[in-house]
Amino acid sequence: MQTQLREYVADREQLAAALAHDLRTPLTRIRLRLELLRKSQLRQSLMHDLNDIEAISRSVIDFATYEIVDEEQEKIDFWSLVDSIADNYPQVSFDKASLVSRGMICIGRPIALRRCVTNLVENAVTYGTKAHVSLAQSGSDILLTIRDEGPGIPQAKLDEVFQPFRRVETSRNRQTGGFGLGLTIARNIARRCGGDITLENDVKGGLRAELRIPRLT
Ligand SMILES: Nc1ncnc2c1ncn2[C@@H]1O[C@H](COP(=O)(O)OP(=O)(O)OP(=O)(O)O)[C@@H](O)[C@H]1O
Ligand SMILES: [Mg+2]
Repeated sequence: MQTQLREYVADREQLAAALAHDLRTPLTRIRLRLELLRKSQLRQSLMHDLNDIEAISRSVIDFATYEIVDEEQEKIDFWSLVDSIADNYPQVSFDKASLVSRGMICIGRPIALRRCVTNLVENAVTYGTKAHVSLAQSGSDILLTIRDEGPGIPQAKLDEVFQPFRRVETSRNRQTGGFGLGLTIARNIARRCGGDITLENDVKGGLRAELRIPRLT
């Protein structure tokens, strides 16, 4: 049993996926039963809790399966990728001045990379209201910088927030709604294509997230 357990733990992604998947059936049953109850304060608050459990379980499935999906690597025009993401957010300004960054190509999985950048942009918009995005060439890397106008992250927590389910206390409220997986996923994706993500508090205030990806030369 010990060995079996160790094998399971070694394959924790699979385990998390299976667990989250198996939770779905009883959760659906509970939802149906709750709907049969008379409207009341209790039903209301149980529904609320159930919504939370379902959302957590969805995000765990997401987290556990995003690497299993096998997506082929391909050449990606990084400028176009960032531009199309920025287009979806009115709070984002994309500094297009740096023409040198146009036409920079990297090798990666397009859906994953889109998710990586989106997670960073979403954090900037959620916690920092506005995001200033710029793209540059840095040595043999493509360097994406996202600076926001929020409170930043306490210095001592800058590493910690990359851990799964880790959130800074002040943002632990329902409005922001996350589960603390966005940065974990984004960093995993960046590292898988030979890059990385770093966070620092900008001298002008706000958080500054940098994503580096090797450029195809
Ligand atoms: N731009 C930012 N400004 C301030 N705090 C931030 C910023 N980005 C991330 N954080 C802090 O880091 C925590 C972890 O971020 P992460 O993206 O991993 O998870 P999340 O946003 O809470 O949830 P989700 O899984 O939906 O992304 C956030 O909860 C927040 O406290
Ligand atoms: Mg997030």
